[in-house]
Amino acid sequence: MQDNDTPVADLGEEAARAELARLAEAITRANRAYHAEDAPEISDAEYDRLKARNAAIEAAFPHLRRADSPSGQVGAAPSEGFAKVTHAVRMLSLSNAFSDEDVTDFVAGIRKYLGLPAEAPIAFTAEPKIDGLSLSLRYERGRLINAATRGDGEVGENVTANALTLGDIPERLEGAPRVLEVRGEVYMSHSDFADLNARQEAAGQKTFANPRNAAAGSLRQLDPAVTRTRPLRFFAYSWGEISEPLADTQSDAIARLADLGFQTNPLTRRCARAVDMLDHYRAIEAQRATLGYDIDGVVYKVDDLGLQARLGFRSTTPRWAIAHKFPAELAWTRLEAIDIQVGRTGALSPVARLTPVTVGGVVVSNATLHNEDYIAGRDARGEPIRGGRDIRVGDWVQVYRAGDVIPKIADVDLARRPADAAPYDFPQTCPECGSAAVREEGDAVRRCTGGLICPAQAVEKLKHFVSRAAFDIEGLGAKQVEMFYRDDLLPVREPADIFTLQRRDATNLAKLANRDGWGQTSAKNLFAAIDDRRTIALNRVIFGLGIRHVGEVAASDLARHFGTWARFADTVDAAAREPAAQAQDAKARKAALADSPAWAEIVSIDGIGDSVAAALTSAFAQPRERASIDRLIAELDVQEVTARAAADSPVAGKTVVFTGTLEKMTRAEAKARAEALGAKVAGSVSAKTDLLVAGPGAGSKAKKAAELGVETIDEDGWLRLIGDA
Ligand code: IVH
Repeated sequence: MQDNDTPVADLGEEAARAELARLAEAITRANRAYHAEDAPEISDAEYDRLKARNAAIEAAFPHLRRADSPSGQVGAAPSEGFAKVTHAVRMLSLSNAFSDEDVTDFVAGIRKYLGLPAEAPIAFTAEPKIDGLSLSLRYERGRLINAATRGDGEVGENVTANALTLGDIPERLEGAPRVLEVRGEVYMSHSDFADLNARQEAAGQKTFANPRNAAAGSLRQLDPAVTRTRPLRFFAYSWGEISEPLADTQSDAIARLADLGFQTNPLTRRCARAVDMLDHYRAIEAQRATLGYDIDGVVYKVDDLGLQARLGFRSTTPRWAIAHKFPAELAWTRLEAIDIQVGRTGALSPVARLTPVTVGGVVVSNATLHNEDYIAGRDARGEPIRGGRDIRVGDWVQVYRAGDVIPKIADVDLARRPADAAPYDFPQTCPECGSAAVREEGDAVRRCTGGLICPAQAVEKLKHFVSRAAFDIEGLGAKQVEMFYRDDLLPVREPADIFTLQRRDATNLAKLANRDGWGQTSAKNLFAAIDDRRTIALNRVIFGLGIRHVGEVAASDLARHFGTWARFADTVDAAAREPAAQAQDAKARKAALADSPAWAEIVSIDGIGDSVAAALTSAFAQPRERASIDRLIAELDVQEVTARAAADSPVAGKTVVFTGTLEKMTRAEAKARAEALGAKVAGSVSAKTDLLVAGPGAGSKAKKAAELGVETIDEDGWLRLIGDA
């Protein structure tokens, strides 16, 4: 909206009333575009200006404050209005292949995992990867029970009423299994997209940047009547929970979905060999421009569903499928500035500020520059990249987007380099706190040494703490955390402060409620959401601490191993005092291992190595950081984590070691299977080992197990034990 320059003091009552109405509408629209449609229409600065102007007018004319005043809202949460649906079977994503070689590696990896010889044939299906949004349709006794978006993979939004407006989604099925979750992609065709934007424009309403955004925005309408007017389509390509198998192969299962009345992609093929997969990829790529809808690659899936079941899943992706992406789109633009962002672990990350340019339907104005070597034209080993050309402010650079990741810079055009462009001087001190920024031997990244005194590190740590996989506090996202961090009345400088917010003094609710952007209700809701998270699982706490190298998977591994916070913290504290924690290099560490039982326990956990142990112990050894962690734990009721699921399996909770040659399965498969049954798989035998599975050729581990009296069985014994024989 047009800025009104009239000073508030000079506004008449009528003008003030009219402007408040315009502001309410503009702010609501901006909130919705930002939070619900993932398509911001105005800059943050403009948004702040609208809010400030609104607050100033309300302060001068309190009686004109509207019932729907935007100062009472904390930005529309994305899901407000939609009920939540917990998926019976998680909705996963796909790992990516960017080259033919990645595809052959994928096939080879599958053979290796299954222990099949190199020449053994494995058939795959190949089909377009539709660029839309995924949807899970749950049918029970042939009736559509609910339709849910993917959400975070575990919990999505219930959009049943909207889904039923799609012609491609049947409400009833004939001859379907009793329970059937059909999964697929909602998308909009190019011509429907063009028509929709023309209609929106004629009606003075917002237009969409690309068909994907249009499809997402249309499906996630609160009013199904609006969705009904949007021409959405649906391709079925997969399934979630089913009460009985659809078929023995992926291709037959898809054919079955087609028989049940779903649209399936006509370019789906069964490929007997890897060359056929790549041929079909090229055939699809050649048709890409004329298909009439957006696709961004080709998905390959193992055809035999028995093999799919054996291959199973990693934490977020299936082992039996991969998305072969089309080459990234490229565009040239000017590099206007290089900014340095300081991350949670102090890493100084250079960011390119670009003259905005459209790359594959999306406007790009930032790109990552990775690190100082990358800017200088070298890789981590000092070898030249881009032919050794450095990147300078003022340069013309070629940007590309591969998938949803942050845009990157592929090249610079030296012919267009301004005469006065100077090589970039990477800062040696932290731009946020002034502390020295140092680069350790072998590390590509320069890091701020300020720790928690660095405001950027502290804020990023807080943002990480409230993120989805960590504490996930409703109403307290990255933006709010930043605001609280800078607040003088009610500061939040470390995670524990979030939990003491409410009781710091009796007037806090009023203080928060009076703040711009907040009201009584949102303040109360926030305090309730915070209280909700006082009881929390150990893995989320460990992940939430934001310690370097400790991602979601490592945090879960640690939590499953230690079970309780006390066991975890005591072991890390003990390890921090042991010689291994003081060792300067890998060799010294190895030598110190025998005298470092706590350290040895940490690194015995499968998937946890020296870098995680070092990061944990160094965080716990810093008095400031340790005290801040203790303050947090004092506020929480940390829930014990027990070995995952399958508590009825005889191996649940047991620590198992595999050694020697396995003949019926590969080591990787054995490990994944054991973990799925709730066992911990360790790499070495110790007093904590419950069971050794020894194949032919077992050596020192079997000997050690015998010494320690650890039960030892062979592969067949193992298969009988877990019921797979
Ligand atoms: S299969 C367990 N097939 O891509 C894997 N996904 O990057 C189930 N997608 O979330 C997915 N076309 O939204 C599959 N033909 C296709 C697809 C497809 C598009 C989307 C889907 C998924 C995302 C993963």
